[in-house]
Amino acid sequence: MKPLSLLAAASLIASAFGAVPLHAQSPAALTATSPDGSLVLSVTTDNDKRPTWSLSRKGKLLIAPSRLGFLLADGINMTRGFAIAGSETAKGEETWEQPWGERRFVHDKHNEVLVRFVQAEEDGARRMNLRFRLFDDGIGFRYELPEQPALKTMRITDEVTGFTIAPKGEAWWIPGGEWNRYEQVYQHTAIDAVSTAHTPITMKLEDGTHLAFHEAALVDYAGYWFKRADGQSFRTTLAPSSQGPAVVRDLPFATPWRTVRIADEAAGLVENDLELNLNEPNKLGDVSWFQPGRYIGIWWGMIRGDWTWAEGPRHGATTQRTRQYIDYAAAHGFRGVLVEGWDKGWNGNWFGHGQDFSYTQATPDFDLDGLADYARSKGVHLIGHHETGGNIANYESQLDDAMALYEKLGVDVVKTGYVTDAGGIVADTDRYGLKPGATRMAWHDGQRTVNHYLDVVEVAAKHHVAVNTHEPVKDTGLRRTWPNWVSREGARGMEYNAWGAYANGPDHEPTLVYTRMLSGPMDFTPGILSLEGAEGVPLASTLAKQLGLYVTLYSPIQMAADFVEELDKHPREMDFITSVPTDWAESHLIAGEVGDYAVFARKDRASARWFVGGVNDATPRTVKVDFRFLDPGKAYEVRIWKDGEGASYLTEKRHAIAYDTRTVQKGDTLDVWLAPGGGMAMRIVPKP
Ligand code: NOJ
Ligand code: CA
Repeated sequence: MKPLSLLAAASLIASAFGAVPLHAQSPAALTATSPDGSLVLSVTTDNDKRPTWSLSRKGKLLIAPSRLGFLLADGINMTRGFAIAGSETAKGEETWEQPWGERRFVHDKHNEVLVRFVQAEEDGARRMNLRFRLFDDGIGFRYELPEQPALKTMRITDEVTGFTIAPKGEAWWIPGGEWNRYEQVYQHTAIDAVSTAHTPITMKLEDGTHLAFHEAALVDYAGYWFKRADGQSFRTTLAPSSQGPAVVRDLPFATPWRTVRIADEAAGLVENDLELNLNEPNKLGDVSWFQPGRYIGIWWGMIRGDWTWAEGPRHGATTQRTRQYIDYAAAHGFRGVLVEGWDKGWNGNWFGHGQDFSYTQATPDFDLDGLADYARSKGVHLIGHHETGGNIANYESQLDDAMALYEKLGVDVVKTGYVTDAGGIVADTDRYGLKPGATRMAWHDGQRTVNHYLDVVEVAAKHHVAVNTHEPVKDTGLRRTWPNWVSREGARGMEYNAWGAYANGPDHEPTLVYTRMLSGPMDFTPGILSLEGAEGVPLASTLAKQLGLYVTLYSPIQMAADFVEELDKHPREMDFITSVPTDWAESHLIAGEVGDYAVFARKDRASARWFVGGVNDATPRTVKVDFRFLDPGKAYEVRIWKDGEGASYLTEKRHAIAYDTRTVQKGDTLDVWLAPGGGMAMRIVPKP
């Protein structure tokens, strides 16, 4: 770490003795560097005594001076009148193990600086600390608000953390704060044409540098949107609350980390554990009761409209059909069977009527106990489902009973759902100190619902149940601390393909890889081998791309989403799907560009096998797979599923697939053609 200036050192000594030097000893500016020296942070105050931060990389300005601070209710300002009162530095290095994930071991090496800001007496004498962690491939920083006489509770109307991106560039993003939550089509624009975006937002600068802005450890706070103020200047704006301020917190507390991943190439954004490293270690201890695995489910039929969640002649979740799915799962090595619409409450207009859902009572045509016994006898696990319709007041009132029931039945994963427009969450107000039983509206990413999602995860953990949240708040790496929060939606998943031709365009998945997937696992639900949505509408996908999704879009629970009758028509594709792992020792992006294509190589955590998968946008291309990741001096058999001649998502030849088997070793390469909207998959097994 670069030595602090003499002034800073003097101030450090002063603060070590308990004095908060406001005048003579205060350094005007501090700098800190990442372990390899490539990133240089500067923290200072501007001519209006406003705290600012800036960042250079390899000698080039990346983030121009950008503001820090808060706007509080009651006219209190925490953006001006500050001086640096002192600082502390630290270093950290460790390698820690994930219970499950994209890689078994995660390395954390960082330099840290804590900067103490104090407001002048006439500006309110408030204190605000900033903790910066510099890694070689990114930076994270958070506000730490210490206990102080002039401020007991912060009612934060907005946080004004700035990000002024110095070089020009392009961005991939979805709008934040719009009605459809995170389920938007990705936009690709110039950076100065972004409006208000969700994070992660990904950028490529003129010189090729890749950036992704996001946050880590979003707990008891509102999620932030990345709002453009002017040119390439952005600032945080917090998801709102119907109680007034977006966030209310008693001091002391720390905000989530604001993060920027930084890399020369797209792969450096993807193979980057910044947010995980900024989260707290596992709080749950041994979570071996959660087993990653593949699943099927009574689901696509409702999404397409062939079956219903509601009771009646087309009810999907019948005892008979569930037995059929359990049998299929047992025969093909699927660990789980998801059943939606098993519970009471779906019969009315469930959208907007979340008060009707029961989480403990099954419909009369669904023998819950009998099916749980049947599944157990076949070595299969039912996957539970809790749709809330956004009524978290009703869900919270049944939460403990609901999870206890699942525990009793041996259901160890639950998919939850919060289908309502943004701002449409119905929450009780006890937590605001208001009348018990009263409700108020909330946002999926507002402080109230952020707390709710985590409460669900904690109650579920108590009952040894893992959670897969649909209509979630964005993932901020909390799976490190609560490893039973195993997957979530939080982007347009496969379901959109049921509702319109090419509803998710061919570039959707190769964009997800570099945007949404940076935040964590996604329950995308691949495996629509029919390549057809409702009324036969085509998917923007070839058959080989459906297989490529299993390797490119990571989740520890991975669905084969089609009807079992359709899966049955594709024994050769099922050979891949029923062998692809959902837990990895290593993961590498071996080729790809944001929004264009992505090819991963991942090593099974339970064997010496490797798997390769790729997804492509609309432009056909040939990619070179370099087997450099294999162990030297060993021969491997590669089984290949690839786009057939003339394959294209635009024609009936989307079904064209070709198969190949080769022997390869480290040092070999193989050219693979990816069709428009195409993809590929490989299984690589060491030869005896
Ligand atoms: C939307 C979810 O994304 C989908 O998977 C689920 O089936 C429905 N809500 C009903 O809960
Ligand atoms: Ca959804």
